[in-house]
Amino acid sequence: MKQDIFRKKTLDNINKEVAAGLDDGHGYSMHKTLNVRDLTYMGIAAIVGAGIFSTIGKASFDGGPGIILLFLFISVACGFSAICYAEFASMVPISGSAYTYSYVAFGEIIAWIIGWDLLMEYAIGNIAVAISWSSYFTSLVNSLRIDTISIGSWHWAVNFHPHIPEYLATDYWTAKDQASEAAKLAWTNAPTFGAYKFICNLPAFLITVIITWIIYIGIKESRRTTNIMVILKIAIILLVMIAGCFYVHTENWTPFLPNGIGGVLAGTSAVFFSYIGFDAISTTAEECKNPQKDLPRAMFYSLIICTIIYVLITLVLTGMTSYKNLDVGDPMAHVFQLMNSRWTDWIAGVISISAVIATASVLLVFQLGQPRIWMSMSRDGLLPPVFAKIHQKYKTPSFSTILTGLIVGIPALFLNLSVVVDLTSVGTLFAFVLVCGGILKLQNDENRLQSKFKTPYINGQWITPGLLILTIALTFAFNYEGLQHFFVFYDRVGPFVHINVSEKIPMIGFGLVFLVTAMYAYIHKYSLIPVLGFLSCSYLLCESGATNWGRFIIWLLAGLLVYFIYGYKNSRIGLQAMKS
Ligand code: ALA
Repeated sequence: MKQDIFRKKTLDNINKEVAAGLDDGHGYSMHKTLNVRDLTYMGIAAIVGAGIFSTIGKASFDGGPGIILLFLFISVACGFSAICYAEFASMVPISGSAYTYSYVAFGEIIAWIIGWDLLMEYAIGNIAVAISWSSYFTSLVNSLRIDTISIGSWHWAVNFHPHIPEYLATDYWTAKDQASEAAKLAWTNAPTFGAYKFICNLPAFLITVIITWIIYIGIKESRRTTNIMVILKIAIILLVMIAGCFYVHTENWTPFLPNGIGGVLAGTSAVFFSYIGFDAISTTAEECKNPQKDLPRAMFYSLIICTIIYVLITLVLTGMTSYKNLDVGDPMAHVFQLMNSRWTDWIAGVISISAVIATASVLLVFQLGQPRIWMSMSRDGLLPPVFAKIHQKYKTPSFSTILTGLIVGIPALFLNLSVVVDLTSVGTLFAFVLVCGGILKLQNDENRLQSKFKTPYINGQWITPGLLILTIALTFAFNYEGLQHFFVFYDRVGPFVHINVSEKIPMIGFGLVFLVTAMYAYIHKYSLIPVLGFLSCSYLLCESGATNWGRFIIWLLAGLLVYFIYGYKNSRIGLQAMKS
């Protein structure tokens, strides 16, 4: 039967699903156990992770102490999106997060695209989180002198295989960083199969298995584990901040912007990555006692707490040493090591433990989120029914949970995916843009009447075009040289010829998006908060560069192919798919 690819899901439909008990077609539905405190812990668990423990180093090096401005800006941008997420969460009390919200606001095909896109934020992003957990773990274990664990990557081994014996005989290794020391160790100890050495990232795989198992056996177990991990990591972070205060020298805060605003903006992707996570709790809507009230509150609480933590940590880090010393992968431990005393060395060790806990908690919340999104998509017939199957005893989406474990665990064994951090940010920003856009789309829709939390309305009719004019004026005032270079170059070589030009395409796209949004805001008297969320996240999205966009578009095209092969033919609204 031919389907309308823009068919929407109505709140009536969703309310019927809720009233029917949201079972999986076999009579099993999930446990409702989470309250606002658990959800806030889950939000913090997902937000505070690899971002603040590692990528902040390079961002501070580029931006100097002024990087806190970027933390504040991105926190505000995420805050606008959080308000829109909160409104949807209070309107749509089922799992699925941005996928279900887009189904209500834009219709099926956009919902599918966002569901596919969220794979990038959750499952694919988690491959990077698992790999980064492994490096914290192995360096912790190595510092305890237990160095038999193989770490490295298949990709790396295959590429270097023919030359390894030569390299082993030279100083090649010593010239490289600590990571290659670990790789050397892995290579020397690895089992051999014919001409090949088998090297894999075992810790990354094992942590994924353990986390998957906890999630599989129940939401209560997941909640308990998350709560313990969050209490531990926050306690350690507070200890670090308090201890660090004694070593702050305020002169390190000047110059505040050593590399200007450009230096600060270089850290955009890294800083945004460190905020990702508050949205993930919305996937647990069906396991909340009162999702419509508690989810919005928990999102705000976790975002506010994390912003305070981030700004304070950045102030302490950049105050303890010159920003020039922060271009390292473990900035927090590093600044304490620089202080050179037994006490500060001890703190550096404690920080490594905290990093291991923090990364594991991020892994847990995202591993929890992915199966719940698949479950929602499967209920709508966009994925086979087995994805919505709920375990008879544990009341968790069993098949989807195991599949997520495999999709994350197996690639984590073999891949080395620093690129995934950027793709995760792009995927998440895309979801934020659509959620803010969804609130604008529903501005005068009667569905919104059912919302228990509403985005405060401030008329953006004049303010949005005003902001456009201000942005153009500021761009010309402060970045005239850059613009001149860009246009001169453009004239001389023609468009799309040189990488510099193509790298600008996303920004040109942002200019157009801003212009069209300003026009629509004027015509429809758009609400300012979702407009600001939409624009700030679109801006961050465009900052991601053309290469990431290219990869992202290929990913989305692959998703469309899957939709037309399966979802298009099988989609039904809501539980009908399960009951037929
Ligand atoms: N915000 C999460 C982290 O920093 C994704 O690890």
